[in-house]
Amino acid sequence: MYRTHTCGELRISDIDKLVTLAGWVQRSRKMGGMTFVDLRDRYGITQLVFNEEVNAALCEQANHLGREYVIQIKGKVNERFSKNANIPTGDIEIIVSELNVLNTSLTPPFTIEDNTDGGDDIRMKYRYLDLRRNAVRSNLELRHKMTIEVRKYLDEQGFLEVETPVLIGSTPEGARDFVVPSRMNPGQFYALPQSPQTLKQLLMVSGFDRYFQIAKCFRDEDLRADRQPEFTQIDCEMSFVEQEDIINTFEGMAKHLFKAIRNIELTEPFLRMPWNDAMKYYGSDKPDLRFGMKFVELMDVLKGHGFSVFDDAVYIAGICAEGAAHYTRKQLDSLTEFIKKPQIGAKGLVYARVEADGNVKSSVDKFYTQEILQKLKEAFNAKPGDLILILSGNDAMKTRKQLCELRLEMGNQLGLRDKNKFACLWVIDFPLFEWSEEEGRLMAMHHPFTSPKPEDIPLLDTDPAAVRANAYDMVINGVEVGGGSIRIHEPKLQAKMFEILGFTPEKAQAQFGFLMNAFKYGAPPHGGLAYGLDRWVSLFAGLDSIRDCIAFPKNNSGRDVMLDAPAELDQSQLDELNLIVDVKE
Ligand code: AMO
Repeated sequence: MYRTHTCGELRISDIDKLVTLAGWVQRSRKMGGMTFVDLRDRYGITQLVFNEEVNAALCEQANHLGREYVIQIKGKVNERFSKNANIPTGDIEIIVSELNVLNTSLTPPFTIEDNTDGGDDIRMKYRYLDLRRNAVRSNLELRHKMTIEVRKYLDEQGFLEVETPVLIGSTPEGARDFVVPSRMNPGQFYALPQSPQTLKQLLMVSGFDRYFQIAKCFRDEDLRADRQPEFTQIDCEMSFVEQEDIINTFEGMAKHLFKAIRNIELTEPFLRMPWNDAMKYYGSDKPDLRFGMKFVELMDVLKGHGFSVFDDAVYIAGICAEGAAHYTRKQLDSLTEFIKKPQIGAKGLVYARVEADGNVKSSVDKFYTQEILQKLKEAFNAKPGDLILILSGNDAMKTRKQLCELRLEMGNQLGLRDKNKFACLWVIDFPLFEWSEEEGRLMAMHHPFTSPKPEDIPLLDTDPAAVRANAYDMVINGVEVGGGSIRIHEPKLQAKMFEILGFTPEKAQAQFGFLMNAFKYGAPPHGGLAYGLDRWVSLFAGLDSIRDCIAFPKNNSGRDVMLDAPAELDQSQLDELNLIVDVKE
């Protein structure tokens, strides 16, 4: 037997037991005639003691142990003289009587400690060592627990887990596909699923009624902290349901996860916010509602007083940061710099402080009387000590997005985005289409299978941009943790949708014929949702990036630096796949 116990298991009640442990040498220190070794495994750390006076040869052997050597020891559990309250095994130590080196190790390139000295790149290159650290391992443990709870909840609700293929054709979810050449079908390619969307809809046609899958999805898109090219969805679909049924089922799942993982009881129904309001009041379809600073539109108050920036603007709005009037000129200048950054692109920032006597002092005082400034104060219901920040522009949507960035930045600066506080909501009533400047046409905001709201169907012919969808996203703390929709199940409506999206009937048939044909054989009304598992885990673990809850993630350039992938192929492999590589500079 390699071990009788793990390194996290022994307690004071085990004193005098003879045990065998195995694990990695975390560190060792020699103090006089004694050598102490911290032995680590997945479960914890146990202190080993070697006493020169008792067994000089064994102690000598221990003195040669390097960091990360894999060893097995036999010994007796002893009560520690100086206890360590920081670890569960801190009351005991093992007086070692036998040491067996199972494997040596090179000196690791960074310390395997909670606060490691290794930078991001080196930790990713040696990810298998990084995964030995508590911080990273515990994220994967949490992930495991989440998937268990997900399966438990969905199983109890009658969902069946069905696997769908990964080598499929293109599934339009708004990103680029990753493609795989087919050797047996020269010149042809599979696409990896951006999600199992069409397949789960086919399962509804097959009568599966309630499906789920913890599914790998692949999207070739620009990476951010909450995006990986390869990520995991908790993908679900239900038949004979309306939006309300889906919202209830998955709000139930969210509450189950909060309770099971974080022991947080969410009793209230989640807030529901129409997309229009989310954009109008927060400038985002995923508002962080842990804090206020709701937008207030100020065209009526501030236009027409001779300040040309506002007089010429189409849209003016601001936020009120409670108690932030103490912001210094320097802090305000750096906020201005922040919103002028090219990624945000605002032209300038106007501020107004509410002073202790209720008077308002602004950066544009020379254009506005105190009377107007009081109106500004009233528009926000601002109190002495508050700071009002205002942006303007010629495009309402762009200015809202800029103000959204400013709001989030102020939330950060004022410490209002507490990771242990959770604000959950549904954003509902998304537009069915959005205009793509790049493509010069309407695109499906969610995907082409999303059903319009029945009452908006007549608008498909007259004003498609105004049609709302039966689509919903769950948003927690400003993160879109999931989204879905009721689907179109009538072939005629689906054909109309493709037409508006600019597909010729031939192209629609070529790309989605399999689905449209299936719908001719009795497709039930259906709808669903997919949660982003990585995002849920990061949220519960309080992580800044989903990378930290993925065992082997990609870096920001989409590379796996450990595997050194992607990489070039051998000529023979290219030949076999009938591929010619022609990299443009
Ligand atoms: P959607 O594209 O909104 O919907 O994706 C569902 C959820 O998956 C997560 N997600 C991601 N997580 C990490 N990295 C990414 N690159 C990434 N992209 C998406 C998000 C998101 O809310 N088929 C539909 C679902 C449906 O309609 O049922 C779909 O894929 O948390």
